Amino acid sequence: MTEQSPALDNLLTESRTFPPSEAFAAKANATADSYAEANEDREAFWARQAERLHWDTKWSQVLDWSDAPFAKWFVGGKLNVAYNCVDRHVEAGHGDQVAIHWVGEPGDTRDITYAELQREVSRAANGLISLGVTARDRVAIQLQMIPEAIIAMLACARIGAMHSVVFGGFSPSALRQRVDDAQAKIVITSDGQYRRGKAAPMKANVDEALAGAESVEKVLVVRRTGEDDVPWNNGRDLWWHELVEAQSDQHTPEAFDSEHPLYILYTSGTTGKPKGILHTSGGYLTQAAYTHHAVFDHKPGEDVYWCTADIGWVTGHSYIVYGPLANRVTQVVYEGTPNTPHEGRHWEIIQTYKVSLYYTAPTLIRTFMKWGADIPAKYDLSSLRVLGSVGEPINPEAWMWYREHIGGNRCPIVDTWWQTETGSIMISPLPGVTHTKPGSAQRPLPGISAKVVDDAGNEVGKGGGGYLVLDKPWPGMLRGIWGDDERYRETYWSRFSEQGYYFAGDGAKYDADGDVWLLGRVDDVMNVSGHRISTTEVESALVSHPTVAEAAVVGATDPTTGQGIVAFVILRGDVAEDQARGDAAIQELRNHVSKEIGPIAKPRQIMVVPELPKTRSGKIMRRLLRDVAENREIGDVTTLADSSVMDLISSGLKSGSDE
Ligand code: WTA
Repeated sequence: MTEQSPALDNLLTESRTFPPSEAFAAKANATADSYAEANEDREAFWARQAERLHWDTKWSQVLDWSDAPFAKWFVGGKLNVAYNCVDRHVEAGHGDQVAIHWVGEPGDTRDITYAELQREVSRAANGLISLGVTARDRVAIQLQMIPEAIIAMLACARIGAMHSVVFGGFSPSALRQRVDDAQAKIVITSDGQYRRGKAAPMKANVDEALAGAESVEKVLVVRRTGEDDVPWNNGRDLWWHELVEAQSDQHTPEAFDSEHPLYILYTSGTTGKPKGILHTSGGYLTQAAYTHHAVFDHKPGEDVYWCTADIGWVTGHSYIVYGPLANRVTQVVYEGTPNTPHEGRHWEIIQTYKVSLYYTAPTLIRTFMKWGADIPAKYDLSSLRVLGSVGEPINPEAWMWYREHIGGNRCPIVDTWWQTETGSIMISPLPGVTHTKPGSAQRPLPGISAKVVDDAGNEVGKGGGGYLVLDKPWPGMLRGIWGDDERYRETYWSRFSEQGYYFAGDGAKYDADGDVWLLGRVDDVMNVSGHRISTTEVESALVSHPTVAEAAVVGATDPTTGQGIVAFVILRGDVAEDQARGDAAIQELRNHVSKEIGPIAKPRQIMVVPELPKTRSGKIMRRLLRDVAENREIGDVTTLADSSVMDLISSGLKSGSDE
């Protein structure tokens, strides 16, 4: 009777497997031996991968785990991350190779070669230096998918400054929170952005965010939409093009320590305050580059790669910027939405640029399914070789559709599990090696160790389920939470402290073959269209509205977005219920959340209720609310302080829906 069980049943009986073709396997970057080689000597394996990069000084020790859970990889080694992503390819004679085929939403395009990228990044680095930015300073970047976003990130890396990229769709207060937490000195943004064919202002939001932000010295503004009346703060604001174009295109990169901080990226946790995930240089770049090479079978100079993520998320950091560029990729970067100006936009881009490696998210695949297979059928997708998926579990139906209608039943699909915290892909099939299985991420990559364990931390057997843990340190792992070592230990290392396991927050199970299936979050983090949003964050936003006394938020299964946000609110005593239950009032609450956090956090549904189900210790029982939100029979209510509450909620909802 439950809505969730069909997926589980399906998963338990999934027996289809797809072996690689012989032709693919013969030329694959990955080999079956790499698992055994890595198992034999994990550190030697990662050292071999690190050697794919250029080091100014070689490391003296591969891993120092003596201060666990704070890892040091390639200790004593020195490198420049931007040099590895740009200059070394130019020096090796590939300056004319296109690094980025950029496609703007309105249809404008720009091809950037590695030689040009080197000049642009050098200019931007010189520009930042002229503003007094030095190593370890924080630079916040809120930009849409334009080349300047990538150039700005690489310019920071080049001078050892840390970037903190904030997704373009985040609200002014979300931006402000991140700027304050990181004490950002510079903010880089644009005048406006194109969204579904229209120009929307961006700078005005940034101004609102930064009012009174004391750490911020300068705001750099990229001109994109060319608005006439961009609000301007003389003395603080500078046009990117005016600053950068005046700089020399020569800049000598300095080598930084392998553990020099590279960036902070904020992600939702189980409390309201986002966590600044800290990544460093040598180990991170090693794993990003190795995984991009092995998981996508990327061949420099031959493949055209396209990762559809936004640089505001970790996928954009590791699989648009660092991994691919370190591997001398030629890639598509697309500014816009998938249905602007028409629903075949992605397929048209693949056809035009002969994209061979395509990496996207299940929520988008399900959207494409909804739009219909006849749309991709109109385009020539024969250039495609490997298809990737990331961000949430991919249901077998979507996997099969992706394989058939996009991959022509010929492309291996790599379902890649990882997190902002892991920095790079951890669990995934290897194309050319793995016999893939619809819906399963299958097994940890060579050099990576993961387990499914029960409550007590014991590994479960085949067919068993529990929590996903990572039981050995890995090069790309987070080095902590910015400014909060205690929260780092508490969030990730306290759940299985006895065993010393990293707790990922995901449920998982082994099938009969021992392959791993990811089952979604086990904490209060929702996954909406592959975006992590915490229930508490949305609850705080709701209770900040004057009409709301209390709020509880759950993620309910949604056929397209994976989960949808459903909120239950208790109104303040002086607000007349029927009035507040009206459509306009509900709409106002939804908009309020969108304004507080960003449109991605807007609840799908808000229900006004007289009470919330709580345990005797006052904890909200979200499980029961999820039953209501998913239209299921309500589960066990015996631990409720007042077991009649659920009746009250259900009857209240009935009268609510009678209106
Ligand atoms: C989920 C995105 C199942 C998971 C790279 C994880 C997945 C969270 C998969 C991290 C996958 C990501 N299968 N679940 N292939 N990939 N997830 O930090 O719940 O934005 O913990 O990183 O997304 O989200 P984040």
